[in-house]
Amino acid sequence: MAGTRTRSLATLAMMKISRRSDIAPFYVMEVMKAAARRAAAGGEVLHLEVGQPSTPAPQGVLAAAEAALHSHRLGYTDAHGVPELRTRITRHYLDRYRVDVAEDRIAVTVGASGGFVLAVLAAFDEADRVAMTEPGYSAYRNILRALGIEVVELPVGPDTRFNPTPDLLEALLPLDGLVTASPSNPTGTILTEVELTDLAGFCETHGIRMIADEIYHGITYGDEPAPTAIARADHAVVVQSFSKYFSMTGWRLGWLVLPEDMIRPVERLAQNLFISPPTLSQLAGIAAFDCAAELDANVARYAENRRILIDGLARAGIDRIAPADGAFYVYADVSHLSDDSQALSGRWLDEIGVAATSGIDFDPTNGHRFIRFSYAESTADITEAAERIVGWVELRNRSATRQ
Ligand SMILES: Cc1ncc(COP(=O)(O)O)c(C=O)c1O
Repeated sequence: MAGTRTRSLATLAMMKISRRSDIAPFYVMEVMKAAARRAAAGGEVLHLEVGQPSTPAPQGVLAAAEAALHSHRLGYTDAHGVPELRTRITRHYLDRYRVDVAEDRIAVTVGASGGFVLAVLAAFDEADRVAMTEPGYSAYRNILRALGIEVVELPVGPDTRFNPTPDLLEALLPLDGLVTASPSNPTGTILTEVELTDLAGFCETHGIRMIADEIYHGITYGDEPAPTAIARADHAVVVQSFSKYFSMTGWRLGWLVLPEDMIRPVERLAQNLFISPPTLSQLAGIAAFDCAAELDANVARYAENRRILIDGLARAGIDRIAPADGAFYVYADVSHLSDDSQALSGRWLDEIGVAATSGIDFDPTNGHRFIRFSYAESTADITEAAERIVGWVELRNRSATRQ
């Protein structure tokens, strides 16, 4: 008996773990874990680390979910989703962007995350070269790496408003793909209509498959909505989600707008990987498009939070920030306070109960100089967090002068 146990432990020790899984953790989740530990120990935490709305799904979605629970079998659906939702999404493109999209180009997915995996698996092979901005959304970088795709870092900064440009891409050719996010996470910057058109045109000319993440559409602070990549590049894939504007993170629902040549490949992959997206979420999600009043009120709160946070950070001397055009993030250069933003965010959590995310998640090269603040929580929390940071910096500056 003892011999068998020893043998099985020895076998376990020798078991192989894939090289592909040896990727960086999603550090935001690690900060969330540390914040949860502090909260569980009775400590107070102001959450500026989490990239999700603090509100539940809108009322109309909750009512539709309740009705579907009682009236629907909730079995599998088509791999690309229920027809009613796909039709409603095409109407959304007509209403918001005046773009007519055929229904068979819509693939409903398990969040933007599931959609991104499908898009990347369908578009690229191992060792293909795919560019993404640095800073850029870390999970995409890590997913590409796990799939054996070469991530070509595209360093961006204040000179291009943290946006990719054709000139920057030109220097990295040959490329098989480009991942963009506008509004971006972590910076919040938006590609203007002209910038997006130029970039999409460059990709078409050079055979670069553009994967355009538009998950933060609807959360913008200028007069114009963020432009969509649809109709700007015949071969681009648009990644979208119910997580952010629609305030439905845990419902795990998103969609892709696919170019013609990718509809069947993505369908085959979706059938095998996921069978179908969550049925209850799909049925409820149809109602989300009729909840604009409630959802726009969330955006109005983000706008107020953004004003308060940017003002507070400026009073704390943290004023080198990326243009926060959309999403609910401020990406700030804190290198005058520390050259280790992970340690700085750890100190803020310990000393003033403010959780924020180090830029190392988004930018392996320069992220140690940056912190990303999310302002999706309540206005009271953002106001309090801003005051605590102002107080912390004042105290630090006073003790620095004394020394
Ligand atoms: C740019 C970006 N894309 C995708 C995602 C993942 O979204 P989902 O919840 O739809 O999987 C996030 C989440 O924060 C994000 O910021």
